Amino acid sequence: MPTPEPKPFAAAAAFRKALLAWYVRHQRPLPWRTEVSAYRTVVSELMCQQTQVATALPYFERWVARWPGFTALAKAHEAEVLAAWAGLGYYTRARHLLALAQQVAGRPEPRTAEAWRAFKGVGPYTAAAIASIAFREPVAVVDGNVIRVLARVAGVRERFKDGAAAAKRFTGLAAGLVDRRRPGDFNQAMMELGATVCRKAAPECARCPVARWCQARKEGDPAELPRFAPKTRRTDEVSRGLVSHRGRVLLHRAPAEARRLAGMAELPTLALLGVAARGEPALVRRRAIGSVTYVESLHALPVTAADVRRWTRAAKLEWVPVAQLAAVAVTGPHLRWLNEWLNPPGRPARGTPP
Ligand code: ADE
Repeated sequence: MPTPEPKPFAAAAAFRKALLAWYVRHQRPLPWRTEVSAYRTVVSELMCQQTQVATALPYFERWVARWPGFTALAKAHEAEVLAAWAGLGYYTRARHLLALAQQVAGRPEPRTAEAWRAFKGVGPYTAAAIASIAFREPVAVVDGNVIRVLARVAGVRERFKDGAAAAKRFTGLAAGLVDRRRPGDFNQAMMELGATVCRKAAPECARCPVARWCQARKEGDPAELPRFAPKTRRTDEVSRGLVSHRGRVLLHRAPAEARRLAGMAELPTLALLGVAARGEPALVRRRAIGSVTYVESLHALPVTAADVRRWTRAAKLEWVPVAQLAAVAVTGPHLRWLNEWLNPPGRPARGTPP
């Protein structure tokens, strides 16, 4: 039997007031809060979509120093934008941001969530964040943090298939709660509460400004909510080549339209290099992308003159000088692994910092 739609609770006004008072005192002084503009909101929200705030922070600071507004960003080259995003992951976000800047530059900025939704890469959550924070439109943000806060406050025990199903479920409740005069602060306060107090594991109910209205706390198990169906995980094995020749390394540049990598470079697979694995890998590293864990065996390959000729002719392969690794768009884990291989502990560093 489906659970009924969570009811907005009677104490909505008191809840908002307590939450906003807490936010004023306890919010982190994030650079997109201390100076607010549509541009800074768009950049920060796109960066924070699948990335923790603490990770996004230094990227945000470098980004706005280099491209302070839509007009400056619109003139940037895609390769520069991808290199500045390197390490944040989900690289289509960088290309969407560049395309968005090119469309917005020199025009009046859209002011509603509906209008922001028209841009590729801006979903309902990001559009609501931009419109409420930068233009005070009273629309509710429903991201993972907000879902967690609302599921606990309203004591929703239903098990959700995934985040999108949960977001749908809580949209009505969030819309009824959002503060109409300070929607941007309200939304950021909900996200902040979820990120810093109403955390996934070990929520700190003693520090929570809205604990008195929290159903899950009354029932004694806030950490159990929200409930999600277990994800099916898969493990894939990948073998890649570490190739260094005359101060350059060999990389594989993904096509610009590739969904995940979108023009970023990674270490080439042995299949792409046309070689078979021989002997033990120099490094074995694991990483998770979505529901897949990749076990990556990285083989240091001997290089013959014939290999150099063959690889130089291959359209997908690119020789990159070691000194330029940080300036070209290489994904975070691959840059780290290359540096581990090029600069093993105990040897003075050459190449680039991660
Ligand atoms: N996550 C994404 N955007 C955020 C914001 N503006 N404040 C706190 N957490 C966030």
